Amino acid sequence: MSTLNIAIIGTGGISLQNHLPGLALCRDVRVHALCDANPATLEAARLATGAPVASTQWQDIVKRDDVHAVIIATPNFLHPDIAIAAARTGKHILCEKPIALNAADARVMASEADRAGVRHMTAFTYQFVPAMRYLRHLIAQGDLGRPYHYRSCRLQDWGTRNLGWRQQKRLAGTGELGDMLSHRIDFAHQLVGPIRRMVANVMNLTPIRDGAPNDTDDWVAILAEFENGASGVLESSKLASGRNESWRSLDYVEINGSEASFEFTTGRWNELMHGKKGGPGLAKLEVPREFWVWPGSPRDPGVGDPLVSFRYDQAVEFINAIREQRSCSVTFHDGARAQAVMDAAVKSAETREWIQIS
Ligand SMILES: NC(=O)c1ccc[n+]([C@@H]2O[C@H](COP(=O)([O-])OP(=O)(O)OC[C@H]3O[C@@H](n4cnc5c(N)ncnc54)[C@H](O)[C@@H]3O)[C@@H](O)[C@H]2O)c1
Repeated sequence: MSTLNIAIIGTGGISLQNHLPGLALCRDVRVHALCDANPATLEAARLATGAPVASTQWQDIVKRDDVHAVIIATPNFLHPDIAIAAARTGKHILCEKPIALNAADARVMASEADRAGVRHMTAFTYQFVPAMRYLRHLIAQGDLGRPYHYRSCRLQDWGTRNLGWRQQKRLAGTGELGDMLSHRIDFAHQLVGPIRRMVANVMNLTPIRDGAPNDTDDWVAILAEFENGASGVLESSKLASGRNESWRSLDYVEINGSEASFEFTTGRWNELMHGKKGGPGLAKLEVPREFWVWPGSPRDPGVGDPLVSFRYDQAVEFINAIREQRSCSVTFHDGARAQAVMDAAVKSAETREWIQIS
């Protein structure tokens, strides 16, 4: 396979912001087919890419022999059907998070993709922040010691505007939980390990957004116990008025261990805060240059806004995994693990009980 033909299914916001610029960094890759249910969105993407194939029906795209890999960036409820159909026709798959509406579906996606022998990847984009990758490296080499506490806080100001499909449970599954906290649940898995049990609460403080009903959560918090005995506190909100949104607002992770503490925030892409046990407090720790781009990425970290451009390494990793016939750095299994925690959070909020995670 010399040139890889990619299909993008769902050509809305994230495809234009992350996936197209990422694919543009990859050699011998062509955006060959596009699909969007909205003809105007599809036509705009077709004009922007020059892709020769375009359809409003994802079934027509997935079955094509001249498509080698698909990127799924539709509203969440469509991810499992598209991914399973793509796996069954031998396509490699990069699927946006949350990959499904529940863990059972996410596990089926992972097993179908494994069975088909295709590469599969969950778009946990913030794993590609250089500082996050460096933090994982430092923890893996033992600098944290025994993990004691994991803490994450994601605060944004999305106001009360209409969020479209994102505020409809049947299309999105959950609100802030799947939209934002899913990434921080994945951080917790990457940095500390599996969660053993947890209690959670969710709140919907905006049942009407700009005149349209919202049946999803706009705030979520989880209190967790990890299998290794560490504690976890995770909070995420769309209603932190005045905090702004996107990477300009708080995205904070702190991890305390027996030897040290580390603090990470997406807004400071190339530095961590670090303090050693018994030391004077946290001080800046610069991320070494070799961590500024993902291994195998040709991206120049000096080009563009580094708070945006790290996201392009995600598509590069997907393409490199296909070429090198190896697993992607973050697979559907990681997506399913995060989904199990999300399911438990929903159940805990409903039952008001601690939930054991299997
Ligand atoms: N990884 C990240 O950091 C990140 C960031 C933003 C969004 N996302 C995820 O990406 C996905 C898309 O989000 P978005 O912000 O781009 O949303 P969006 O609404 O901008 O785009 C979704 C597109 O899917 C299209 N669509 C709807 N039904 C379809 C169908 N049946 N077939 C084909 N296309 C269809 C819509 O017309 C729309 O253009 C979601 O799963 C979201 O959670 C991930």
